[in-house]
Amino acid sequence: MLVAGAGGFLGRAISSSLVEGGYLARGLVRDPAKSESVRRVGANPVVGDLLDAAAVRRAVAECDCVIQVAAAYPGPGVPPDRPRSVRVDGTRLLAQEARAAGVHRLILGSGYWVYADHPGVLHDDSPLDPRGESRLNFDAERAALAFAHPGEFEVVIVRPGMVYGDGSWFRGMVDSLRAGTYRYPGQGDNYWSLVALSDAAHAFRTLVDAGQSGEAYLVVDDHPITTRELSTLVARELGVATPSGVPFGELRSAVGDDVAHHLAANRAGSNQRLRHLGWSPLTPDARIGVPRLVRSMGPG
Ligand SMILES: NC(=O)c1ccc[n+]([C@@H]2O[C@H](COP(=O)([O-])OP(=O)(O)OC[C@H]3O[C@@H](n4cnc5c(N)ncnc54)[C@H](OP(=O)(O)O)[C@@H]3O)[C@@H](O)[C@H]2O)c1
Repeated sequence: MLVAGAGGFLGRAISSSLVEGGYLARGLVRDPAKSESVRRVGANPVVGDLLDAAAVRRAVAECDCVIQVAAAYPGPGVPPDRPRSVRVDGTRLLAQEARAAGVHRLILGSGYWVYADHPGVLHDDSPLDPRGESRLNFDAERAALAFAHPGEFEVVIVRPGMVYGDGSWFRGMVDSLRAGTYRYPGQGDNYWSLVALSDAAHAFRTLVDAGQSGEAYLVVDDHPITTRELSTLVARELGVATPSGVPFGELRSAVGDDVAHHLAANRAGSNQRLRHLGWSPLTPDARIGVPRLVRSMGPG
């Protein structure tokens, strides 16, 4: 089993869950300094760039399944085309090399931001409206699915909701609440679906054996939460001021149209398809999991 992006937020948790489940996990990391964190969860690091065909070929050799959660984000010093090349070209190269090497299955970590803003409950096959960062995940899905071949190379798409753990967007929310700068979108009455990091990782593990090729799986807990309730919950646990809302126009000027759209979208997801495979969240409600996480994160 190979995890591409094993040194990242999702990749490390997935590697750890695979090891716990008795799988032999190999983790592809771009930066040798991340090797130790992969080793610490019991997986074997392989240093290489997802955009380097020879490195990818070596990494997938003798694997039965590969999981792709490598991603790059815009930022200072990051070439503007890097996020697309890692997500889309990297996924294509991984699928191509994996299929050529006789790997049976590719599990692609995408995200639930590919779904359209939806007034009701989102299901796995609900309408899509990929924009900005989620356009890259959507294009990565298409790139991977283009290699699917029945009985030979299976491709399973995973669309996690907002994954909460000590890192990623959740760390950003905690830091900006502490700094007094966090504001929820508008009235804060739009729903997000969250999932605890270990539950998300367990979903990937479940899909290694049980996912159906060509299907997409929403990975969310049982109880969506509004952005106002979520940020208020975190603020209360941190002992800082209750946040207020930011008008949509102001939010758009601050973070751009696409990110503002995603933050303000209503996405209350259902996990029924994944539950049918035997997965269920150990932490079914962020109202329990989030305060527990904040307590465990300590004083910043
Ligand atoms: N975090 C969430 O809540 C969440 C929710 C739903 C979906 N997702 C999706 O899941 C994916 C991963 O997210 P994440 O939060 O785990 O991101 P992350 O923490 O940034 O992890 C991504 C990993 O990919 C590695 N990487 C980047 N370029 C690479 C390359 N060329 N070759 C090999 N490895 C490379 C990065 O290594 P370096 O740091 O060394 O560059 C990093 O370790 C993204 O597509 C994201 O949209 C995330």
